[in-house]
Amino acid sequence: MAEARRRVWVSQPLFDDIVARLDAHFDVIRTAAVTRHSPQAIAAALARADGALVTLNDAIGAAEVAGAPRLRAIANVGVGYDNIDLAAMTRAGILVSNTPDVLTETTADFGFALMLAAARRIGEAERWLRAGHWRQWSFDTLLGGDVHGATLGILGMGRIGQAVARRAAGFRMRVLYHNRRRLADAVERDCRAEYVGFDDLLARSDHLILVLPYSPQARHLVDAAALAKMKPGATLTNIARGGLVDEDALADALAAGRLAAAALDVFEGEPAVNPRLLALPNLVLTPHIASASRATRRAMVALAVDNLLAALGYGPDAGKPPT
Ligand code: DGY
Repeated sequence: MAEARRRVWVSQPLFDDIVARLDAHFDVIRTAAVTRHSPQAIAAALARADGALVTLNDAIGAAEVAGAPRLRAIANVGVGYDNIDLAAMTRAGILVSNTPDVLTETTADFGFALMLAAARRIGEAERWLRAGHWRQWSFDTLLGGDVHGATLGILGMGRIGQAVARRAAGFRMRVLYHNRRRLADAVERDCRAEYVGFDDLLARSDHLILVLPYSPQARHLVDAAALAKMKPGATLTNIARGGLVDEDALADALAAGRLAAAALDVFEGEPAVNPRLLALPNLVLTPHIASASRATRRAMVALAVDNLLAALGYGPDAGKPPT
């Protein structure tokens, strides 16, 4: 009797033509619409799966895989994988992969765009113009801060942080960074970046950008105390994870004018946004789209499919440790 085909669960609608590569090897259980699956629904889907293609919308821990004896691999479509409890997956013998590299440059572009938008008040200016406030050109309309020649502070100096630093060179910025580990001299030279302590980074940066991975230990790393140490009139940009920032403390700092402006692509309770943030004019808000260029989102799905195929024994990378 022919052996039953193995089964893969795809938790969200992704690019059909790319996901179709799985059909040659597996029964693929697709999800028709973007869905916030309940923990029970995730557990039920994984219970009969050998592999899964998931996104940051899908929180997967010990409980979700407890009844999934066949599950061998989870491919996360994203570089961040804080939605997955890695220790629990290791205990259960499940390989987890992510999609680094393919989104680095696109995400760095967006971080830079947000920083520029915050410093030069682009969101505020557009809202002002659309609201019909522009009567005549005047010298002091919507004055902002400069980015060129200013000091950029990068918190988290992995691939994306380094890509942000390389962009800063074109703006003749001085680049400071803080990271768990100091970079090798050659990489520091390439990025023209100077390693400093956390407090120094806060105190000396005109524009601070967060590009570090999230972990429960890093929750509210940028809290009221950290914000109070920032240079008065600085800006803060977050393209990492919302939980890194205490949003109420940020709202206080922006409302008091201690920070000139901020830009957030990520939120602690996303897709819900703290109403205090929504009410602030000096804040640029975007819906977690830093990696959302058409080409990059396709590359992320393609890499996740490759990772899943390799982890389940197909393709040139079969058997190699996943990314
Ligand atoms: C990631 O990859 O972690 C982003 O947040 C989603 O693209």
